[in-house]
Amino acid sequence: GAPVEVDIGKIEAGQKINVEWRGKPVWVLSRTPEQIKNLPKNDPKLVDPKSEVDQQPKYCQNENRSIKPQFLVAVGICTHLGCSPTFRPDLAPADLGPEWLGGFYCPCHGSKFDLAARVFKGVPAPKNLEIPPHKYLSDSRLLIG
Ligand code: FES
Repeated sequence: GAPVEVDIGKIEAGQKINVEWRGKPVWVLSRTPEQIKNLPKNDPKLVDPKSEVDQQPKYCQNENRSIKPQFLVAVGICTHLGCSPTFRPDLAPADLGPEWLGGFYCPCHGSKFDLAARVFKGVPAPKNLEIPPHKYLSDSRLLIG
């Protein structure tokens, strides 16, 4: 499949857009400063907080799993059995509990991921979501693939 160019100039803070790349849904999320700041708080509860498993390019092997802390670019397919997790940026919702700092929830079997697409312990999904190869062509243009 060909790389896909995405206009990210109009994504508001806290907003996620969906793009199709190689037949897969890819999310581009513009994280707020608070969401970025909260990511390390999840570390003790995660399966692979440092992203040591090969689920991302080397340049995204960091706390934010991204090139720019603001933007998460992730394949929106659950690493359990392939459902598409829902975007749940809300803090402490009743169904996800008081410690929920925002993330993604898979409705199929309840897997949970944080806003860096890192999987929580104790759910069926074994690995963090995949980060696709990507690069920035400018401040407003992203190339996936
Ligand atoms: Fe997501 Fe099973 S497919 S939890």
